[in-house]
Amino acid sequence: MKRRRLPSVLFLLALALLSLAFRRYLSLPLPIGASRFAGGSDALLRRLAAIDVGGDQILAEAAALLANASVSTFPSLGNHHRLLYLRVPYRSNATSAPRQRTVSRLRVPFHGVPSDATLLAAFRASLRGFLLARQHHRHLHDVAGAIANLPALLLGRGGRRRAATCAVVGNSGILLGSRRGAQIDAHDLAIRLNNARVAGFARDVGARTGVSFVNSNILHHCAIHSAVTTPGCGCHPYGRAVPLAMYVCQPAHLLDALICNATATPESPFPLLVTDARLDALCARIAKYYSMRRFVAATGQPPSNWTRSHDERYFHYSSGLQAVVMALEACEEVSLFGFGKAPGAKHHYHTNQKKELDLHDYEAEYQFYRDLQERPEAVPFLDEVPAFKVPPVKLYL
Ligand SMILES: *[C@@H]1O[C@H](CO)[C@@H](O)[C@H](O)[C@H]1NC(C)=O
Ligand SMILES: *[C@@H]1O[C@H](CO)[C@@H](O)[C@H](O)[C@H]1NC(C)=O
Ligand SMILES: *[C@@H]1O[C@H](CO)[C@@H](O)[C@H](O)[C@H]1NC(C)=O
Ligand SMILES: *[C@@H]1O[C@H](CO)[C@@H](O)[C@H](O)[C@H]1NC(C)=O
Repeated sequence: MKRRRLPSVLFLLALALLSLAFRRYLSLPLPIGASRFAGGSDALLRRLAAIDVGGDQILAEAAALLANASVSTFPSLGNHHRLLYLRVPYRSNATSAPRQRTVSRLRVPFHGVPSDATLLAAFRASLRGFLLARQHHRHLHDVAGAIANLPALLLGRGGRRRAATCAVVGNSGILLGSRRGAQIDAHDLAIRLNNARVAGFARDVGARTGVSFVNSNILHHCAIHSAVTTPGCGCHPYGRAVPLAMYVCQPAHLLDALICNATATPESPFPLLVTDARLDALCARIAKYYSMRRFVAATGQPPSNWTRSHDERYFHYSSGLQAVVMALEACEEVSLFGFGKAPGAKHHYHTNQKKELDLHDYEAEYQFYRDLQERPEAVPFLDEVPAFKVPPVKLYL
């Protein structure tokens, strides 16, 4: 990472994230407080919400890559670039011979990317850090170990200060025609999601961006399209210096981060902050809790039947939810734009995607945002953190 060039906001954000993670996770496993959910089942919901089947799968994937992945590059025809393959062996059954599955295939420049062996070693080091951080958040006996994974530079920098006002800009089609642009741009920090385009939409969504929050699929697509053509992968529609904050949804994407970092230059940097594993776990709990609560209210079935409507292996919070939770700690006041639906509104303001992804429960997430605004003291998990106070949140619809 080109750390020297990270804008100061990233330092602030990282510091904030760090302390968010700590204050929250030190207290999450404590006994559950008073029930706030009708029927006295709040405690049960919290307990069930802490089971993270999808998270376990990601861990297994990371472990498999760490144990068995290979990296190999081959010159392309005509030697214009190299083709990089990330592979893992698999067997279709116990007796069949192992075969190689290609996890990722990228075009990378001929020069500037480390050798296969060096790249594999760096990838394994990232995977190891990723696994360690996740294991630590479950067994909190080594919190100091998790902190050591974060760059010492981040910790060395000055005191901890929050941004006074933040706008988290979701990508809902309700923004079209909203004329919120100037209002959004007036915030100290605008956090945008998944590299949604602002060009052509400035009147409705604004033009300034302080942090670009993405899931790692977005980075992977940047790497596929531009690892070979653009130093630092050109993953920055808001300006080259705007930092990316990213959560890892597939451990293989840690390799994309290494490649983009390796090709970065001072003119085309790749400032990246990978979110803390404990923040990921907190978001998973919140999303599942609200989804279960909605399911119970709508169907009258027990929360344990929630898996009948959601496949736990794939259920996931949306990027927006994590950006909002991050903002709760990084900002003194949080405004949310572009979260919500309206009859006739497009799903995204900037795409023609018709259908929502089944892996998210947007209605449940909207309820979380309404709770943040209207009854912050009752938001599950956040209320278990001593001395943490949800800042004022305003949801603009
Ligand atoms: C990113 O690349 C720089 C060299 O350009 C290197 O010093 C640094 O360790 C790399 N960071 C990561 C996280 O790989
Ligand atoms: C790595 O490969 C070996 C041999 O195929 C297999 O037995 C082992 O389970 C794999 N490790 C992981 C973590 O998948
Ligand atoms: C295992 O897989 C191989 C080929 O993938 C197949 O020929 C064989 O019949 C399979 N064996 C069993 C027991 O399913
Ligand atoms: C809950 O799910 C089980 C099957 O998993 C089903 O038999 C049962 O009827 C469901 N409960 C209710 C109240 O619908």
